[in-house]
Amino acid sequence: MTDKNFYVTTAIYYVNEKLHLGHVYEFVLADTLARYHRLLGENVFFLTGTDEHGQKVERAALSCGKKPQKYVDYMSGEVVKLLEYFHISNDDFLRTTQKRHKKIVQKFFEILLEKGDIYKGKYKGWYCVFEENFLTEFQLIDGKCPECGRDVEIVEEENYFFKLSKYLDKVLEHIEKNLDFVIPETRRNEVVSLIKQGLKDVSISRTTFEWGVSLTFDKKHVSYVWVDALLNYISALGALTGGEKFKIFWPADYHIIGKDIIKFHAIIWPALLMSAGIELPKTVAAHGFLLKGEEKLSKSKGIVLDPYEIAGRYGVDPVRYFLLKEIVFGNDGTYTDELMVNRFNSDLSNDIGNLVSRVLVMVKKYFGEEIPEKDKPHELDLQLQKSWEVCLDDYLKNMSDLKFRKSLVSIWSFVASANWYVDKTEPWFLEKKGNISKLKTVIYNLCEGLRLLAIVTYPIMPVDMEKLWVQLGIKEKISSCKIPQDLKWGLLKPGTKIGKIYPLFPRIEKQKL
Ligand code: MSP
Repeated sequence: MTDKNFYVTTAIYYVNEKLHLGHVYEFVLADTLARYHRLLGENVFFLTGTDEHGQKVERAALSCGKKPQKYVDYMSGEVVKLLEYFHISNDDFLRTTQKRHKKIVQKFFEILLEKGDIYKGKYKGWYCVFEENFLTEFQLIDGKCPECGRDVEIVEEENYFFKLSKYLDKVLEHIEKNLDFVIPETRRNEVVSLIKQGLKDVSISRTTFEWGVSLTFDKKHVSYVWVDALLNYISALGALTGGEKFKIFWPADYHIIGKDIIKFHAIIWPALLMSAGIELPKTVAAHGFLLKGEEKLSKSKGIVLDPYEIAGRYGVDPVRYFLLKEIVFGNDGTYTDELMVNRFNSDLSNDIGNLVSRVLVMVKKYFGEEIPEKDKPHELDLQLQKSWEVCLDDYLKNMSDLKFRKSLVSIWSFVASANWYVDKTEPWFLEKKGNISKLKTVIYNLCEGLRLLAIVTYPIMPVDMEKLWVQLGIKEKISSCKIPQDLKWGLLKPGTKIGKIYPLFPRIEKQKL
């Protein structure tokens, strides 16, 4: 264990409808990062949860004839099931209807009031219930919400306003001085230009419905759902109430969010924190959107990607792999079954799956299921080891920066080297010629390569890589490994008895789909 703490969060998910594969993409990103930092020996806290208040959720509950609380209890349970299904290793799950959260929201409002940063006013303007967003006439596109394209409603009510304008210069200065505060750069530029265009003070309470956290100093008002939601990042740590976790983990290392909610995270959130005198998170990392083919996911238009259906067909870890390999962090990415099958068959079945089978079958055939001892290395052995070192350098550089695609490219170049090494060393001829000491070295090196591959791929495919370790006969769990210590070449114990061999990623026949 190092003494470094690491705090990563996802957005919290609305519970008005079931989550799709785009949401899964987000929590797989955060999970991969969390698992990687645990391997680094850091003290990790990974938070996700559900955003359960607001008009959208209230309407969704009423439309199926349920009381909001009953409805959100059920829907947030569905989110928990989905997280478990996708092997997400979150340390906490925050629901905004929990007492522990609500009391911190109330306290936060009291602080803003004391500070003189909120004032009562009248809001008259447009509101998109689907995005839970106040909009100006100027932002509408053909009279509709610019983000989701849905109809907007006119809202006229008493609200508390937050003096956002008071903090804009400070927020801008922070963003421009700390280039890691908003990533990637395209999103930072977008945020900077939004601030420079000038933003008005924002409504932070509502009075025309009740499904929210009521304000202690004015019971007619409930918190605007976005302020309620943003506060989850500190309420889960027990902020403002002496929580130990807050002292340990705040400021967050990463808020992983989608590009559509950057304004809330990179402008409003830091301004609120500044007002309350709380340190800002280190990085707001905005990923792109997962599309189906070329199209934006939309339940109402029937453009859906059901995570259970897709993972049921290809496996959970292969889907995790696909999402991280196919989508460059920050850009939009595409899912189609064809792309998925091609990735599966080429990268998983052909490259790594075949390598594993080839190697383990040879261990069984030539050495009665025991990993042999290596002898002194020859040229090809050294080349394989060198290729590992290059891969490892790239891997370590990229993983911490969310460049998972690049990390996978470097891992797969080592997989290619290992397959090349099998072809070059021709172990079957070594056996035929009775060159057993060389054969032992080759087989040992290949098994060692598999051990190392499993560790580095584990944050992305945790369950399948543990299975690979079981096949290799290693007793400890990968999750107990430490990076970089355990990534040194040559740590595999000779004499280890391999486990039962079976194909990890059996090829998918296209005609079966
Ligand atoms: N509840 C708010 C977030 C509050 S965070 C303080 C919200 N919820 S959401 O359910 O609509 O979206 C949750 C996350 O999923 C967001 O980061 C959003 O960008 C992301 N995604 C929604 N659709 C997506 C894709 N199609 N692809 C990738 N991510 C997507 O916004």
